[in-house]
Amino acid sequence: MKQVCIQGLGFVGAAMAVAVASARTSAGKACYQVIGVDQDTAEGRRRIEALNRGDFPFPTTDAYLQAELQRAIHQKNLLGTKEEHVYETADVVVIDIAQDIEFDQEQPEFDLTNLENAFISVARRVPSGSLILVETTVPPGTCERVLTPLLNKELMKRGLMEDAVHLAHSFERVMPGDKYLNSITNFWRVYAGATEEAADICEGFLNTFIDVDRFPLTRLDSMTASETTKVMENTYRAVNIAFIDEWTKYAEAIGVDLYEILDAIRIRPTHSNIRFPGIGVGGYCLTKDPAFAPASVRQFFNDPSLKFPFSDLARKINNEMPSHSAERVVDLLGGSVTNKRILVLGVSYRPNVGDTRYSPIAALVDSLEKKNARATVYDPLVEYWQERQMPVHQSLPSADLFDAVIFAVPHEEILKLDLYAWLAGAKPAILDAANCLSRAKRQKCRRAGVLVESLGRGEGL
Ligand SMILES: NC(=O)c1ccc[n+]([C@@H]2O[C@H](COP(=O)([O-])OP(=O)(O)OC[C@H]3O[C@@H](n4cnc5c(N)ncnc54)[C@H](O)[C@@H]3O)[C@@H](O)[C@H]2O)c1
Repeated sequence: MKQVCIQGLGFVGAAMAVAVASARTSAGKACYQVIGVDQDTAEGRRRIEALNRGDFPFPTTDAYLQAELQRAIHQKNLLGTKEEHVYETADVVVIDIAQDIEFDQEQPEFDLTNLENAFISVARRVPSGSLILVETTVPPGTCERVLTPLLNKELMKRGLMEDAVHLAHSFERVMPGDKYLNSITNFWRVYAGATEEAADICEGFLNTFIDVDRFPLTRLDSMTASETTKVMENTYRAVNIAFIDEWTKYAEAIGVDLYEILDAIRIRPTHSNIRFPGIGVGGYCLTKDPAFAPASVRQFFNDPSLKFPFSDLARKINNEMPSHSAERVVDLLGGSVTNKRILVLGVSYRPNVGDTRYSPIAALVDSLEKKNARATVYDPLVEYWQERQMPVHQSLPSADLFDAVIFAVPHEEILKLDLYAWLAGAKPAILDAANCLSRAKRQKCRRAGVLVESLGRGEGL
């Protein structure tokens, strides 16, 4: 059986390992022996051990992902390890480690040292004829300008020809949530190879675990084009979200319901993906990817004159968005939140996932605490808020303990909440910042004397 190694068992790599392990031949046999590799750190070991037990390393609501993981563990075609020597027998190595960008300086810069070291650990071991597939989101130019020369250098040291190992790039569009696994196996993919042969091998590999009849692959001319596709599509999304911020404030100022307006606009096929109001942008990707092209043009292509006003402004606006929700709560509580007890419902960066990295809720809570409010957080999918070192309630505390409640993330549990029953006569001010409350729910509570307002809706709507 062919062997596929996945380097990095994070949100992408762990799901990718399950996706590849679930590939079947027409006779129903597993196509691959999959080995997930992570680092010998406390978190790396936790991820490896979880996978080997058949537990997905991150909280997930995707039952299909969990079932496929257990099937793979039962059939023994998926294994986690910290041992890098497994690359020596790999047919394919998929690189799924993270690549950050430093935001400390005015013009964000990336440092590729970790990625280079991780790549070298593969390049120095993989056998002749194998494929290294980079899925990490990288500054455009990384595969051609940095990884290709590194690969050639390692191959030369080993006395192998330059094209002995194939290199390709194909980014993930994985979406943690209910359709986590399907977002890999039943979704469109873009790819490119260092050579035509590398692109062909990459295509052959992707064909085995993606339903390409329904979701055809797109081959691009170069790995730089594939890298650019990823950062451009995420930048587009970030700009779209930032655009809605000014209309959110406008709708509130003139007393209209922006959701109703957006539904009317979305009917037009050309406008169907316009975003909705929200607390802000979160997650590992949308917060950093818009900075990759501006940084790469300076660091790789030596053209500091090229400007990215939309991308830069979108990042700035998106970073500031959470403070608007905090301001709305200040208004609801009569101009001050000092010593007010505020319950925030949801802390993860998107609905139905437990991932709190780069969650905009952190900026919301910071903003409230800077105004001397006392914030409590609830999230059914998060046990502990690592980034803020803060305990998280996994069951709803009693409503009468709070002066205000912010509906921040539309998790299933939060959408299903019987608000009126939970309030049980308590009257905290309520801000629905994530379109969690239907008009009927809002009106029922208002009739009982509860102050309920929404982001993107004028007062009383
Ligand atoms: N999270 C998403 O939803 C998403 C979606 C699409 C694309 N991406 C991109 O995919 C990439 C990975 O993201 P992620 O969220 O999985 O990151 P992550 O930080 O959750 O996981 C990365 C893993 O790589 C491991 N690692 C680092 N160096 C290693 C090495 N030398 N050998 C073995 N393991 C090593 C780390 O220990 C960690 O477990 C990023 O480029 C990200 O931008 C993420």
